[in-house]
This record gives sequence, C-alpha cells and structure tokens, in this order.
Amino acid sequence: MQPTKSDWHHLDTYLKVFSQISQNFLADLDERNVAYLGEPLENKPLSSSGEGFEKALETLCDKVIPNLSASRGSRYWGFVTGGATPVATFADWLVATFDQNLSKGGDSIATDVERQTLRWLCELFDLPECFQGIITTGATSANFLGVLCARQYLGKQQNIDVAENGINGLDIEVFVATPHASMLKSLAMAGLGRRNLTQVNCEPDSEAMSVCDLELKLNQSVAKGKLVIASAATVTTTDFDDLKAIALLTKKHRAWLHVDAAFGLFERLLNKEEYLTDGVELVDSITVDNHKWLNVPYESGVFLTRHLDMLYESCDVPAPYLISNPETPDFMSLGVENSRRFRALPVWMTLLAYGKAGVAGWVDKNIKLARLFAKKIESSEDYELMLPCQLNVVLFRPDCHGLTENKAREKTQYFLQKINQSGRVFLSPGEWRGQSVIRAALSSWETQAIDIDIVFDVLLSVAKVDKMNCSWLGN
Ligand SMILES: Cc1ncc(COP(=O)(O)O)c(C=O)c1O
Repeated sequence: MQPTKSDWHHLDTYLKVFSQISQNFLADLDERNVAYLGEPLENKPLSSSGEGFEKALETLCDKVIPNLSASRGSRYWGFVTGGATPVATFADWLVATFDQNLSKGGDSIATDVERQTLRWLCELFDLPECFQGIITTGATSANFLGVLCARQYLGKQQNIDVAENGINGLDIEVFVATPHASMLKSLAMAGLGRRNLTQVNCEPDSEAMSVCDLELKLNQSVAKGKLVIASAATVTTTDFDDLKAIALLTKKHRAWLHVDAAFGLFERLLNKEEYLTDGVELVDSITVDNHKWLNVPYESGVFLTRHLDMLYESCDVPAPYLISNPETPDFMSLGVENSRRFRALPVWMTLLAYGKAGVAGWVDKNIKLARLFAKKIESSEDYELMLPCQLNVVLFRPDCHGLTENKAREKTQYFLQKINQSGRVFLSPGEWRGQSVIRAALSSWETQAIDIDIVFDVLLSVAKVDKMNCSWLGN
C-alpha cells in the first residue's frame, strides 16, 4: 500500500478521527490508569502489503490506546514528569502538520522561532544575554552537550583539539557530588568514563556538594583539565549546590562548571528575595528540561552555554555543502542531530500564551501541593515522612518502626508496588541515607488539592489491607 496525494482528500476524516481520539483520551484522563496494568503487546509479524489506515487504526484503538498510561495527567508523580498544557499540546499537534526541519535554516522562519525561544527562556530564568544554545530532546542530551563543550574547552587548555583529533592524551578530572544518572551516561558517551570520577563529599544531611571538600580536592588535583558538575536540584532530596561559591573556585582553577538544573532552575520563577540558584549566571553551561516543569510534551529540553564556540567546534558538520558560519552557526552544528524537529514551537507558544506569570503559577502550586501532601504523611500513623519537603518532591515510606533495615526496604518496596497497582497514582523508588524510600514528585500543571486526597486515600487503603494481613509484625 502506497500513500498518494489524493489521501489528503480524506484529511477531514483523519482530523475527525484525530479529534475523537484526542477528546476521548483527554476527557477520560482522570479515570485512566496511571500505571500500566494491562497485557503486553502481542508479537505480530510485520505486514508485507500493509493493512491500510482503517485496519491500522482499529489495531491502535484495540490494542494500544486502552493500555496507555495517564502519565500526562495529574497523578503521575514518578521521576520528574511534567504534564502538557493545552497550548503546548496544540502546538505539538501542529509540529507534525508543519514538519519543518530545523537544521540549517534559510528556508523557513522556524529557525527564527527557535532563536527567539532560546532568548525568551533566558529571560524567563533571568539569565544574562551571553547564554546561547539549542533546544534538545531532553536533559540527558543537554548534559551530554555540556560534557562535550567541557571536553573541547579543557582540551584546548592542553593544546588538544578533541573535536578534530580525538581524546588521545587528554587529561581531565571530573568532580561530582550527587550527579543525576544521565550525567554519568553523558560522561560515558563522551569517552571520559562513568566511573572515572572524583567523588566530592556532600554537606551534612544533604545531597548538596560540600564547597570545602571541593576546594580541597581541586587544590590536590594534578590534572591538566578540571570539570565540575553541579546540581540544582538533586533528583531525590532536591538539594541545590552553592553555585556562587563553586563558580569562584572553578574560575580560580580554570575548570569548566556545568550545572544540571533540569527542574531546579524553575525555582527562579518564585517570588523570593534570594534564589537557591543564585550564581547560575556565572557557570559555563546549564541543562534545563522543558518537558518537566514547563509542561510541554516530550521530547524537549534546553542546553545553554556562555561558550557557544565550544559547542560549535564540538558539533560542527564538516561536509562542504553543509558548512556553517561560525558567527551564526546553524542548529545542526550546535547539537547531536542534523535533522531536527520543530520542537521549539510548543515552548514558544507556551511562553507566548502563558507568560512568566503563568508558568510561575503552576510551579508555585506544585510546591504548595507537595507540602500539603508531606503534611498529611507526617501526621499519619501509617507512613513516615523522611525529609521536610523543600521543593516539589516528597520522600516517605510506610511506618517501619521496629523493623530491621532489610525488612524496612522490603516493606517500602512492597507498599510502592501496591500503591502503583491501584492505577490511581504512579510513584517511583528512591534511596536516602541508605534507606529505601518512595518519591512523589509533583510537576504537572493539572495537579490539584483533590489529587492529594485521592492519593492519600490510596495510601491509607494499602496500609489498611497490609495491617489486616499483619505481614510485617514480629519482624
Ligand atoms: C536532575 C535531572 N537531570 C537529568 C534528568 C534526565 O532528564 P531526561 O529524561 O529529560 O533526559 C532528570 C530526569 O529526571 C533529572 O531530574
């Protein structure tokens, strides 16, 4: 079966079906399971002649749609998972219609939209104009670009042009405290190694980097190149590194400072005198995720750096027909992909439609609701709050008093499984001070006070059933 131009005569039908599916999916979102409880997709051989649109649609409607998760909804609290606002969803629908390729530019206004989006993101986060970059597929790819830039910059200090000649002879020491796993993946992909790290101590009872220990370790280092990876905020305890103090040290040591601020940078939208991200304006490169707290559909992140030349040198595409002007590099020379989706559009529309105040509104609401949830946990006899809620993440576990640490771990994991099996909420596991914990991360614009009650009722009913079974008594 081949597509033909005349298929567009059925555009009206496609749009009607699309509208129906989208409306049903969004209307039933609150009732849909948040965790996947269905059967796996049956393993069917590839159709050689093609089944046609109607049959493909039937399979989609029968086998796939009923088993999709309500992960874009108000009670998917696993990892850090934003929803998608109506405006961003609308814009993302149009991305497929327009199907622009934001690689070289010059053929469409779409690249201008991405450039404007990047400037607006800097304004949103109150970052100086020297920061430039690219919209990425997420925080992992932004972290990867951060490592590539650092590698190029630190290579130049050693008279090695890594992009041209490779990493042979390169000497880089990487300093981390509590890096996100995607940072380790980025180091592995960049040839620096995910285990080849200098572990900096944390501040007491915190995941934030100890500035004193960093200073000590930087002073002791004999490496020719130094890369410091900071966090704002860490994924479990949402601790922020002291970027101002760290930036002073990295400047002294001519080190590259990258900060993974995938969701923590949104703290800058709150109405405060001082920000935990103060000092971010001094770093060399920044990772932010749009598909987390900006609530645009997957895949969307952003990488920003004050050294665009390092990004350009790392990612330039050398073919003569693709040559880019170093003064105004094409996007294909600033990121991993040559061909690039118009993923700037949902971000652009979000910022245009909701403005800074709109985004700040749902960030602030998530934080208040997370605190409300933490309060409920704290006052419950069946659960323990493991840490005061600082941002949008609540760390807790079932009441484990009197249990050995192994039993406490077993009980926590069992409760997590039972809670997720309710289909009403999705939570993910964590680890804090060697203890197994349950993490609830609120980052959807749709989450409301009623969701806190629904989830808390699930928690109470899991605890009630468990009490009836008395499964943890006597251990
Ligand atoms: C701090 C931090 N960095 C990086 C990532 C990876 O983000 P992504 O899944 O968008 O690549 C996450 C995801 O939760 C995160 O919380």
